[in-house]
Amino acid sequence: MGCNIAIDGPAGAGKSTVARKVAAKLSFIYVDTGAMYRAMALYLLKKGVKGDSQEEISSVCTGADINIEYKDKEQIVILNGENVNSLIRTEVVGNMASVSSANPRVREHLLKLQRNIAASNDVVMDGRDIGTTILPDAEVKIYLTASADTRAKRRFRELEEKGQTCDYEKIRQDIIDRDFRDMNREISPLCQAEDAVLVDSSDMDIEEVTDRILEIYNQKVKA
Ligand code: DC
Repeated sequence: MGCNIAIDGPAGAGKSTVARKVAAKLSFIYVDTGAMYRAMALYLLKKGVKGDSQEEISSVCTGADINIEYKDKEQIVILNGENVNSLIRTEVVGNMASVSSANPRVREHLLKLQRNIAASNDVVMDGRDIGTTILPDAEVKIYLTASADTRAKRRFRELEEKGQTCDYEKIRQDIIDRDFRDMNREISPLCQAEDAVLVDSSDMDIEEVTDRILEIYNQKVKA
């Protein structure tokens, strides 16, 4: 059994950036479970599923074979044999992932893959239900959050830097809608595990959040 650090929290809280840094510092593997849900969403979109029929999602999702590989310590998501890393970071795929991840068949499909990786590796795994459902015995659990305004501003800046035109109010509303879906679904809703440490990154930069998580790790694991 590897040493497991679970980082959960809402979209845009900085989980993936921080998780990647913590993993690099500790020489752990970084596992981005959101990317797996995004790969599933991409598959469903390619198959013409619109997202309003959970029955359709249940039947179509079984055709998606999702795996991860590592190249230069970066996670590569393989969907039916194809590297889909460059295709899953769009708002359309993210919104579909938020809808389709509420589906029990989709979650069941990805749960085994996530647990298998954590069983045989030291991992920093981020997502929505890692501390509550996937790795309930993780040595360290973090609930990383930030205000909706902070998260919307960060996303807005990110898109601007990529040269994409974007509407701040729409980004903010998308974040609020996604939070609502992620927190109110029946299966594995996003919530803070009882034994998770809350880290609010609204007034912290990436280095400060990374250091705080390493400090929590040292207190829990090294003590
Ligand atoms: O973290 P992200 O934005 O890449 O995740 C995309 C969607 O996937 C998110 O809206 C909710 C879902 N997700 C989930 O339900 N459980 C996880 N462990 C990770 C992501």
